[in-house]
This record gives sequence, C-alpha cells and structure tokens, in this order.
Amino acid sequence: MTVHFIGAGPGAADLLTLRGRDLIAASPVCLYAGSLVPEGVLAHCPPGARIVNTAPLSLDEIIAEIQAADARGLDVARLHSGDLSVWSAMGEQLRRLRALGIAYDVTPGVPSFAAAAAALGAELTLPGVAQSLVLTRSPGRASPMPPGESLAAFAATGATLAIHLSIHVLGELVAALRPHYGADCPVAVVWRASWPDQRVLRATLATIESMMDGQIERTALILVGRVLEAEEFAESRLYAPDYDRRYRPRGASPRFPEPA
Ligand SMILES: C[S@@+](CC[C@H](N)C(=O)[O-])C[C@H]1O[C@@H](n2cnc3c(N)ncnc32)[C@H](O)[C@@H]1O
Repeated sequence: MTVHFIGAGPGAADLLTLRGRDLIAASPVCLYAGSLVPEGVLAHCPPGARIVNTAPLSLDEIIAEIQAADARGLDVARLHSGDLSVWSAMGEQLRRLRALGIAYDVTPGVPSFAAAAAALGAELTLPGVAQSLVLTRSPGRASPMPPGESLAAFAATGATLAIHLSIHVLGELVAALRPHYGADCPVAVVWRASWPDQRVLRATLATIESMMDGQIERTALILVGRVLEAEEFAESRLYAPDYDRRYRPRGASPRFPEPA
C-alpha cells in the first residue's frame, strides 16, 4: 500500500501530469484538498473509489482515513492543488506517515505561479531585468512569517515577486512595495489562473487597487516586477551566433571541441 501525493495543478483539468492521472486511476481511495482540485481531475478516479474532500477534516482525521486504507491494503491518491512543494501542508502528513511506517511517493504538479505566468505570456526572469523569482505570501492567521522573511526584505532585492494567499491585503502590499519598486512598476493579478473563468488584471503599483472588484478574492496571485512590461532587455547570450558552447562549438579554439 502506498499513499501517492499528487500535485493536481492550478485548475484546468488537463494541466495534470500523465503520471498523476495514472496514479489517480489506479488508486481505490482519493483524498482531495477542497474546491481548488477540479472535478475533471477527480473524474480519473476508478469506478467505486472512495472519494473524500479533506477540507473540513483535521490532520488527525486525514491520517485516520489513510490508516483505514492501509489496513485494507488500498492505495491512496492524495491530491493537493498546484504543486506540492509550496503551501500544500504535505510536510506534516509525510512526517506522520514516516512515524507510522506507511509508504508514500510524490508526483509534482503545475504550480499556480507558472499558470499565472502562462496567462500573462510572461517570462519571469529576463536577462538584465530580474534573474530571481520570490514565491512568498503575507502572514496569515494560521501562518505567521518567520523573522527575516518580510516583504520589504525581498523587495529590496528587486526580484520578481509572486505573492500568494494575499489578495485580501493588497493595499498593505502596495504600500510596502512602492518604496522599492516605484509607483510605475508593473503588477498583474491573475484570478483562478487556467480555470474557465480566469481573469487577468494588468496595472502598476499606483493603479492596481483601483482596478479591483468584488469578484477577485482568495484564488489570486499577485505578480510584481519590471519583467512584466520589459521590452528593453538583452537577448540571452546562449543563443547568440558567436556564443561558444558544447552543442554548438564556435571560434578557433572552442571550449568543447567536437570529437575527431
Ligand atoms: C494554499 S496555496 C496553494 C498553492 C499551490 N500548492 C501551488 O502550487 O500554487 C493557495 C494560493 O495559491 C494561489 N493559487 C492557487 N491556485 C491558483 C490559481 N489557479 N490562480 C491564481 N492563484 C492561485 C493563490 O494565491 C491561493 O491563495
């Protein structure tokens, strides 16, 4: 028996890996984390599968579901939205399973920041503009920020920011970011990226608050950075005609000569 932790992707049912789909189809029990996991993903469960929404359950109750499946030798597909490496609460479940001696594996998913970037048609790292992306959030009732991880500290680097779980405090974010990025810095809010009702708002730090309406709440990502509107950036040296590299040796004495 194995618990398969599977990243269910950002919303669109076809943004699921083939491995994830096949594991769901092979697991007689499916535990999924609330409304962010689309019905189209659950449709891969085999007929007769036990399908449980874990949103109203405590960690103890979730582990009890897994132990019940373990007792019957049934594999479990454990679905969380996006990818499991960020804000999935997978870590605490894995720790319990290790203590119980229950086997598990992890299948990655498409994270929401990647779906939001795709909606924008944006590369979040451009040569000479930004070469780092910070995935962060504002403090929540259940999740205080560790000391040192302030938005101002990240903003001081000028990196592109992908701010999760924070649309309800947009005004505070804007106030914290303006001194570092400038009022004219591009901002995008992507609501329900990849869902059929996806919405994209493009603005600046000066104007984004005035563009918000009541519909944009909860499942939204805030992207901040000069990459969002940059047209003046250097082309990657990797593809320059004279750039000498392993797969395209150039010049009189290439660094990686082709074998004779
Ligand atoms: C609990 S976190 C889950 C993150 C997820 N594990 C991931 O890989 O993106 C939920 C937050 O992720 C963001 N989010 C998740 N799905 C999204 C989507 N389809 N569009 C925009 N933001 C999304 C929102 O900021 C939301 O508040």
